[in-house]
Amino acid sequence: MTDIKTYIAENQSRFLDELFGLIRIPSVSPRPENKPFMKIAAGYISELLLKAGVDHSQVYETPGNPVVYGEKITDKTKPTVLVYGHYDVMPADPLDLWTSPPFEPEIRDNRIYARGANDDKGQMFMHIKAFEYLAKSKKLNCNVKFMIEGEEEVGSAGLKDFCTKNRELLASDIIIVSDTTMATEDTPSITNGLRGICSFEVEVTGPDRDLHSGHYGGAVMNPVNALSKIIAGLTDHQQKITIPGFYDDVEIISDIEREELKKAPFHIEKFKKSIKIPDVYGETGFTVLERIGMRPALDVNGIWGGYSGEGTKTIIPSKAFAKITIRLVPDQDPDKIAALFEKHIKNTAPAGIKVDVKYLHGGKAYVSPIESKGFVSASLAYEKTFGKKPIPIRSGGSIPIISDFESILGVKSVLMGFGLESDAIHSPNENFRIEYLHKGIETITWFYHYFAGVNS
Ligand code: BES
Ligand code: ZN
Repeated sequence: MTDIKTYIAENQSRFLDELFGLIRIPSVSPRPENKPFMKIAAGYISELLLKAGVDHSQVYETPGNPVVYGEKITDKTKPTVLVYGHYDVMPADPLDLWTSPPFEPEIRDNRIYARGANDDKGQMFMHIKAFEYLAKSKKLNCNVKFMIEGEEEVGSAGLKDFCTKNRELLASDIIIVSDTTMATEDTPSITNGLRGICSFEVEVTGPDRDLHSGHYGGAVMNPVNALSKIIAGLTDHQQKITIPGFYDDVEIISDIEREELKKAPFHIEKFKKSIKIPDVYGETGFTVLERIGMRPALDVNGIWGGYSGEGTKTIIPSKAFAKITIRLVPDQDPDKIAALFEKHIKNTAPAGIKVDVKYLHGGKAYVSPIESKGFVSASLAYEKTFGKKPIPIRSGGSIPIISDFESILGVKSVLMGFGLESDAIHSPNENFRIEYLHKGIETITWFYHYFAGVNS
């Protein structure tokens, strides 16, 4: 059997065909109308696993979207690796900003452009292909289990339930995940921290119908004005979150960690240019990388209400809405923060309106040790393919189920991501470089090699 590089070269067009087949299934988890596609995507992955060489695979129903499971047990005395990934994707809107349609993958400049090309269909697919190579070439020296879910982008409730009910089935020594980003294109890195998250929808109700703002303006509280005031009050002039008790459990960043972080490659001018902003912004007293990786943040993801069509319509709207997420750091508990948030919103809401807060889902932050066998094996694997020792990075993103894996299954995860910030995940024109798809497959095969204890 050939080596991994040759295997990839010989099979690259088949790999792309298979990945494109998955990408074409619009498995958008936040959209109820896309529900039928979740099962189709799960079935497609189960087939891919079987073709790649698992002993058996099954699609498990959950109260939410199905979970795909597959395993190959080579020898019970050998270590077991559990692979986690997700087949659900974010909505593709705004559609008119895509150069090519989001669910019709297209290759331009050696990148695959499509929703899910990176997050996480492309990255998850690398694991199936790395496994395929090892299984077909009889080089697999670990037991492998796959667990691919369809609700990561909406809080992973179904998978949490699945893990709780299937602890034995999922028993493993390490969980490996590719759903994160590297520091820069020539700085290989392994994510050793993720932020937690709380997601909310806030609904403000005023009068029982839209009112003429001439008749009533100045005498009735306007729900859009009220919501704007509430949101404006959630952070102060130093960009600190004003919710009482919010910072009580926030992990304090040690001087050593701050010094370490300063060594990470980061160029403020490049950063601003990459997203075309005139300046950076954030909590006073912290650097950009600290703000992203180690401090909490509150963001309004969407806000609507009243008239936003052409021209003007002089009304006081009956309702206003906002979707808000709060990124959390280690030691903050999402449920506790959600309760504080709700209480604070109610306390600060102006008179004359009613406010409802819906807590959609939450997940804890995650920090992984960098001395563990899993992390060290991943580090050796990156060094082998990228020719450079990877640096540990704390990411600002969230994969809420990762901390649950630790509490429910008692197993740590290694976050071996191969994305880049320019891959534009969650944005129009999401893309994934084919070179990194291949590098990822290669690195994962080396991970198995080192994890099984062969140190050559
Ligand atoms: N792949 C991301 C997580 C990620 C993004 C990690 C960037 C590192 C850097 C994942 O699919 C994601 O988007 N998660 C959501 C979770 C939320 C909707 C509960 C997130 O972070 O917004
Ligand atoms: Zn995502």
